[in-house]
Amino acid sequence: MTSADLVVQNCRRLVTCRGPIPKRKSALQDVGPADKVWIAASKGEIVFIGKEKDFQKSVRPERSAVRLDAGALVGLPGFVDSHTHLPFAGNRVEEFRLRLQGYTYQQLAAKGMGIQTTVKATRQATKQELLCLVLDRLNKMLLNGTTTVEAKSGYGLNLRDEVKQLEVLKEAARRHPVDIVPTFMGAHDIPKEYKSRKSAYIDLLIDKIIPEVSRRKLAEFFDIFCEEGVYSLEETRRLTETAKQAGFKIRIHADEFSALGGAELAAEVGATSADHLICITEEGIRILSRSETAVTLLPSVSFFLMLEKRAPARGLIDAGAALNLASDFNPGSSMVGSMLFVLQLGVYLLKMSIEEAINAVTANGAYALRRHQSVGSLEVGKKMDMLLCDVPDYPSLVYELGWNPIRHVIKNGKVVVRDGRRI
Ligand code: NIG
Ligand code: FE
Repeated sequence: MTSADLVVQNCRRLVTCRGPIPKRKSALQDVGPADKVWIAASKGEIVFIGKEKDFQKSVRPERSAVRLDAGALVGLPGFVDSHTHLPFAGNRVEEFRLRLQGYTYQQLAAKGMGIQTTVKATRQATKQELLCLVLDRLNKMLLNGTTTVEAKSGYGLNLRDEVKQLEVLKEAARRHPVDIVPTFMGAHDIPKEYKSRKSAYIDLLIDKIIPEVSRRKLAEFFDIFCEEGVYSLEETRRLTETAKQAGFKIRIHADEFSALGGAELAAEVGATSADHLICITEEGIRILSRSETAVTLLPSVSFFLMLEKRAPARGLIDAGAALNLASDFNPGSSMVGSMLFVLQLGVYLLKMSIEEAINAVTANGAYALRRHQSVGSLEVGKKMDMLLCDVPDYPSLVYELGWNPIRHVIKNGKVVVRDGRRI
């Protein structure tokens, strides 16, 4: 008999998103659905998934075990958000108003607004202020189903303030149930004080900031904005090679506003993920889809910036890409922290099927963070990170818009949201 400290009883419909992971092509259509399922966990890990009859035979719940009746609920894995810019201060409402008057994101960035506005506010914030902001956002994300989140620095753009952001993430990870995967993004922009001396900032990154962040083990990934007017292909190649040597895995903001070739470069340098790809070329699609590099699409950016252009999700899936969807939560191009909304945009904007989009915010999101051995799908031996939703069946997660159907959230085997409230 297996002992259990948490039991989800009689889940009316369960979506497991079970492997093999990453899912490509037609495998993305399979969300592993099952009816009337019992799930048991012990010390945060799933120990049983199956029918009541087998549960009674093989599982002995502890006397103090927590039990949830899911007879009227639909279960699925907790969402994995593989791309966010979580630790920032201030907001960009003024810039948003200007965009509504017709200015584009790039025009405002060229005027010195955009990322620089948030750099200023984030540099001014104390660690304590930043920590409060991050914890509050993590609570909101958890209420909306995110149980694992990647989070980037990149609004400090100097040693002190990049380290400050990453230390805040470390402290938040200690205090909050959501798992945080930290990424160093000192190459998010060129700081104002280096505007006319980009190469001096690149030297500073290479000689000082990358080694220091690595020495202090503050981040697992290195990310860079490879874009016209920001970091060129050559600069991106040089910086990612340096970061790899310092022990970082690589993510790249690639082909977001222009087809620079970031997708091809991501495959060339063995990046864990290439992200955005709104302007990816046919050649980029071909090369990325044959690689191990995850393809991270961020449909809320097209939505939030009201762009006609969207990443070619269909072409990428058909070519075999290991595609996932993430929020890109940030104050300028995606003030969107709900992965449920991202899942919906995957269907409405990117023309993905409901099943493809569900796999893209769970199993394949976990692959994009190389956490797919432990999260992203509900399987024995994986973490008990699960959502229970008040919908007739899983398609209604996409069919019903504008309210939150997530009743309970279980993170690491603990109920952390009950009846829609954080506990
Ligand atoms: O992923 N593209 C670069 N960085 C963010 C936007 C950051 C910001 O505007 O503050 C992005 O879209
Ligand atoms: Fe981003």
